[in-house]
Amino acid sequence: MKKLLIAIIILFVGIQFIPYDVPANIPDKQGEPLQAPKEVEAILKRSCYDCHSNHTNFPWYSSVAPVSFFTKMHVKEGRKHLNFSKWNSYSDEKKAKYLEKIPKAIKSKMPLPSYLLIHKDAKLSEADKKTLSDWASEAAFDLE
Ligand code: HEC
Repeated sequence: MKKLLIAIIILFVGIQFIPYDVPANIPDKQGEPLQAPKEVEAILKRSCYDCHSNHTNFPWYSSVAPVSFFTKMHVKEGRKHLNFSKWNSYSDEKKAKYLEKIPKAIKSKMPLPSYLLIHKDAKLSEADKKTLSDWASEAAFDLE
C-alpha cells in the first residue's frame, strides 16, 4: 500500500514536468475580433470565450497535471475550431458556416458539460440561447 502511494506521488510529480503549454492571452490583431451587439458579446464572453477566443481565464488548478491536459486541450481545440478573436480573418463562407452551427451547438454540447461542472455561471439560460440563436441566424442571413 505504501509503495503504491509512493509510486502515485512520484507519478503525479513527474507528470508536472511534461511540457504542454497553451498561452492564456494572445494579443488581438487590429480589426480581427468579432464585433457583435453588446448583449450577444456579454453572453459569448461569459460562456464561450474561455475556449473560443485568445483570452482564456485559466483557473489555478488548470496548471496542475493531469487536469491541465484536459483544460488546455479543450482550449486548444476550441480555438482551432472557432476563434472569435480571429473572426474577421475568416472568409464570409467560413463565418456563415460557423454561424449556422452555433444554434445547434448550444442546444447539444456547448459550453462543454465538463466545463459547466466548474463554471456554473457559464450555463446558458433559455433567454441566452434565444439571443445567441437569433443573432447567429440574422448575422448569417446578412452575409448572403
Ligand atoms: C471548455 C471549452 C469550450 C467552451 C466553454 C465552449 N466550447 Fe465550443 N467547442 C469546444 C471544442 C473543444 C470544440 C471542438 C470539438 C467539438 O466540436 O466538440 C468546440 C466546437 C464548437 C463549435 C463547432 C465548430 C466547428 O468547427 O464545427 C461551435 C459552433 C461551438 N463550439 C460553439 C460554442 C459556443 C457558442 C459556446 C458558448 C456558448 C462554446 N462553444 C463554448 C470547446 C468549448
